[in-house]
Amino acid sequence: MDFFDYKNNQLHAEDITVKELAAQYGTPCYIYSRKTFERHYLAFAQAATNHKNLVCYAVKANSNIAVLNVLARLGSGFDIVSKGELARVITAGGDASKVVFSGVAKTADEIAFALKLGIKCFNVESVSELDRISHVANELNLVAPISIRVNPDIDAKTHPYISTGLKENKFGIDILTATSVYQYAASLPGLKITGVDCHIGSQLTEIKPFLEALDKVLALIDDLKANGIELSHLDIGGGLGVPYNGEAPPHPSEYVAHITDRLTDYQHLELIFEPGRAIAANAGILVTKVEFIKQNQDKFFAIVDAGMNDMLRPALYQAWQNIVPVTPRNDDTPTYNFDIVGPVCETGDFLGKDRLLALQQGDLLAQRSAGAYGFTMSSNYNSRPRVAEIMVDGEQSHLIRARETVESLWQGEKILP
Ligand code: LLP
Repeated sequence: MDFFDYKNNQLHAEDITVKELAAQYGTPCYIYSRKTFERHYLAFAQAATNHKNLVCYAVKANSNIAVLNVLARLGSGFDIVSKGELARVITAGGDASKVVFSGVAKTADEIAFALKLGIKCFNVESVSELDRISHVANELNLVAPISIRVNPDIDAKTHPYISTGLKENKFGIDILTATSVYQYAASLPGLKITGVDCHIGSQLTEIKPFLEALDKVLALIDDLKANGIELSHLDIGGGLGVPYNGEAPPHPSEYVAHITDRLTDYQHLELIFEPGRAIAANAGILVTKVEFIKQNQDKFFAIVDAGMNDMLRPALYQAWQNIVPVTPRNDDTPTYNFDIVGPVCETGDFLGKDRLLALQQGDLLAQRSAGAYGFTMSSNYNSRPRVAEIMVDGEQSHLIRARETVESLWQGEKILP
């Protein structure tokens, strides 16, 4: 549930009309709801009542420091994949000891940065990475807590680009060889084995693949124990989906209950979740203005001021996200099946296709479920400044990232002498 609702025929973000926000901050802009972020975070954090757990919000979903700070204040941990994300967490007031570091290509510099800050764990994705972490830890005279990210070869039944737990994917270490990799890790100096990690994909709408992966990981934990390797945490990654278009993913509490039900014999293991989308997606909207209405024979286009550089998901994954009018028309404007397209010079530049709407030039539209993988995947393609981000908190709104200026586009560039 989120806090974007219609009242008096006006879309509201919490207690403010989106129309007012668009007038104040301009379009396009991302608008977030603090209450929604908090609600979604707490749905995870309060779900596992009978099992020690830590929610490590996946920063890549939405990494604005105001978002990270809202979650940090509630005690959230963070899942990061780069030095930049870790620096954001620290700047936002996050606690390094609640940070897990995922990703297949951690550099020596990133490892050193994270080690010095004292993160909770490195989720290791290859044998060479183990060697590198051991080397860096020794040089710094520090001990690196590690877990192995295993690849359980489970079909997450999601879009192929966001499926990560199949053996053909680049992620993790083949679960069948994991015990020997743990034994190798145990032989290296500077490492402390603390856990195991598994993330099989994103936007999963069924519980079954999660449980299949969990069963394989629990069998590995048993095998490790038989080989004298005891773990203290189990990180089951993120991936819980959201309803974009009528999907019915389990509620976080249901998802967590299914998992903890399997863990009665593993009470000693701290459970770590890495949700990104389930916390952020429906906590944000992308607001855009109709610049032109255009008809090509029997095809209607609403050309809006937000493009694929602002929201890449439809172009990249053919993702469907609801597009709604900010002020629904109740006049005699005709309704057509519109393709909602952006200003970018690419045929793939659309926010949505075949949307039945009554629209006129100048109308405002809101793309829903845009809080996750929206702004974070935006770019300056076509030399378009990145848009403003706004956080609504009850009756207050805050500009949490200023719209980029045109001059900032060539910052760091240089003309030859
Ligand atoms: N943990 C790891 C190791 C991950 O790789 C990811 C996401 C997450 C957690 C968070 O997953 P979530 O709970 O958000 O599903 N750009 C794509 C999604 C890519 C997800 C990448 N990894 C999209 O817009 O759908």
